[in-house]
Amino acid sequence: MTVTALLGEIADVGRDGRRGGYSRHGFAPVEGELRTWFVEQAQRRGLDVRTDRNGNLWAWWGTPGPNAVITGSHLDSVPGGGAFDGPLGVAASLSAVDLLRSGGFQPGRPLAIGVFSEEEGGRFGVPCLGSRLMTGSLDPDAARRLTDSDGITLAEAASSAGVDPARFGRDDEALADIGCFVELHVEQGRAMDLLDDRPSVAVASSILAHGRWRFTVTGVGNHAGTTEVPDRRDPMLPAAAAVLAARRALGGRAGARATVGRLTPTPGGTNVIASSVDFWLDARAPEEAPVREVVEEITAAARAAAAEEGCELSVRQESFGDTVLFDPALRDRLAAELGGVPVLPTGAGHDAGILASRVPTAMLFVRNPTGISHAPAEHAEPADCEAGAAALARTLESLCRDEP
Ligand code: GLV
Ligand code: MN
Ligand code: MN
Repeated sequence: MTVTALLGEIADVGRDGRRGGYSRHGFAPVEGELRTWFVEQAQRRGLDVRTDRNGNLWAWWGTPGPNAVITGSHLDSVPGGGAFDGPLGVAASLSAVDLLRSGGFQPGRPLAIGVFSEEEGGRFGVPCLGSRLMTGSLDPDAARRLTDSDGITLAEAASSAGVDPARFGRDDEALADIGCFVELHVEQGRAMDLLDDRPSVAVASSILAHGRWRFTVTGVGNHAGTTEVPDRRDPMLPAAAAVLAARRALGGRAGARATVGRLTPTPGGTNVIASSVDFWLDARAPEEAPVREVVEEITAAARAAAAEEGCELSVRQESFGDTVLFDPALRDRLAAELGGVPVLPTGAGHDAGILASRVPTAMLFVRNPTGISHAPAEHAEPADCEAGAAALARTLESLCRDEP
């Protein structure tokens, strides 16, 4: 099947009528529907599907075992996300299996498609939950305690989705089977589209260092009409100071990004001075040091504004991942075998970035003509998606021919 046909089958699953695009959160019923769809697709192809202890799905072509070639991506989305971030890699993996089959190929190494749980962290805050738990870079106790905005713990959500949270944790057995991992993904910027030949496919070189922090400012809830300025202890002011500091902190720091994309006042009434404000900072840069500097600068601005307004501030790191440099030999080999396609860095996080610390890992990107991502307008042209699947099939075929 083509990538376009596969994505068409899930085009109505998890549409968000309020935000636009899709809201497909980890361990939620909508993601469950997508996982069921994937299992059916895999079984139709005779693949043997297993769920690992962290809720990741593995669809095996051939007997599971060591030194396997793994491809795949994720099916969850950010709130109001696009159709391609994640599902494109899953659909391209299924389509690549079809292309290999129709060419009469039989893998000489075990080959599997992995679908990782809660990659975006859109529900529980920590991105790449499935791959972090699997590699041991996230403590399972801390993971079980994570809560979503309705107060549901990850442990409860996993149980409802049929995954036993007591089994969360580093999965040396699953890791031992992975010989290498290649994730195909829509590009999340415009670098490919700005190249003269606007290539369909590129290979990734690196991912920015990236962390998320939760800020809570506590003030005094009060009446918007009757509270005189000297009596106000409004937590929205330190929050606003932090938002402005986030933009200022980027000046002079090449490649750094700082974003406040989520802010929740409590209780959240138009005529109410909030009693507290929670907001989340996403900070990234080519190395860890500038990320830390940016966060310190923003925290200092929030702290000064909180003191001035008589508010309390607390700051907690929710996740951090250092710079990822993809395996240079695999990167160069893939780029050469695909006819000299460009090699590009990215600012977006991926399960491939988590796995890169444990196994040789690479990524293929498919051109995104607008560069928009994490938004309903995210797009990739059908011809580029099919070219991506063909490139992935060529890559898997080549990797499967390697001697163990
Ligand atoms: C995920 O796509 C991220 O970069 O946050
Ligand atoms: Mn993704
Ligand atoms: Mn994403």
